[in-house]
Amino acid sequence: MGSKNKLKRFRENETFSNVFQPSREELVESTFSLKGEWRSKVFKNDNPLVLELGCGKGEYSVALAQKYPNKNFIGVDIKGARFWRGAKTATEENIPNVAFLRTQIELIDHAFANNEVDEIWITFPDPQIKYKRTKHRMTNAVFLERYKQILKPDGVMNLKTDSEFMHGYTLGLLHGAGHEVLYANHNVYKQEGSPEEVTSIQTFYESQYLEKNKAITYIKFKIK
Ligand SMILES: C[S@@+](CC[C@H](N)C(=O)[O-])C[C@H]1O[C@@H](n2cnc3c(N)ncnc32)[C@H](O)[C@@H]1O
Repeated sequence: MGSKNKLKRFRENETFSNVFQPSREELVESTFSLKGEWRSKVFKNDNPLVLELGCGKGEYSVALAQKYPNKNFIGVDIKGARFWRGAKTATEENIPNVAFLRTQIELIDHAFANNEVDEIWITFPDPQIKYKRTKHRMTNAVFLERYKQILKPDGVMNLKTDSEFMHGYTLGLLHGAGHEVLYANHNVYKQEGSPEEVTSIQTFYESQYLEKNKAITYIKFKIK
């Protein structure tokens, strides 16, 4: 995407009422006014709150919001020009129960209060295979601890990925650390039993992987 187009999207994001872009300072200095208040101030209801981390264009957030009007969804990504797509669709189609937050996932526990979140989706994260990149892997122990903080005690995690490495790494870590694996599937379109929302919604990256006949994997788990 050209830089002109990106700038246009950045400007449009600023006009959307469903886009939130706190600065790093606001988050780390705890002056971000939505922390602990997403339901009351943004969605104006008391419905469950679901996050999609690394949401890209926001396909999962938007599709889940349409499917579950009685839940609130927030797509989180550092790339505003990507989630612009989801924010624009939600604006044009008047989907009130989805919003987008531009931040680094490393700061997620500064954007949400303890026990504020009911469920988290991680969709097609970069597997960060190289050893030096382990700290950026979105299911490593440090990230899981952050998610645990913001999740309710019975909160659920969902990981959908084409990466056998990410699938195996995460399963191994979950078993090794005594977390609760509720369900795991290493090929969701071939092996039956995945929840319907796993097979009925495809993200941008997923459709590219499907064209290459890659197996799509899924894990549902709880962080103990
Ligand atoms: C491979 S893409 C997947 C996007 C989308 N989930 C999909 O399936 O089409 C990974 C996304 O995660 C975002 N991302 C990666 N690391 C991040 C981080 N630490 N904080 C915020 N966003 C991050 C990237 O900007 C990118 O949009």
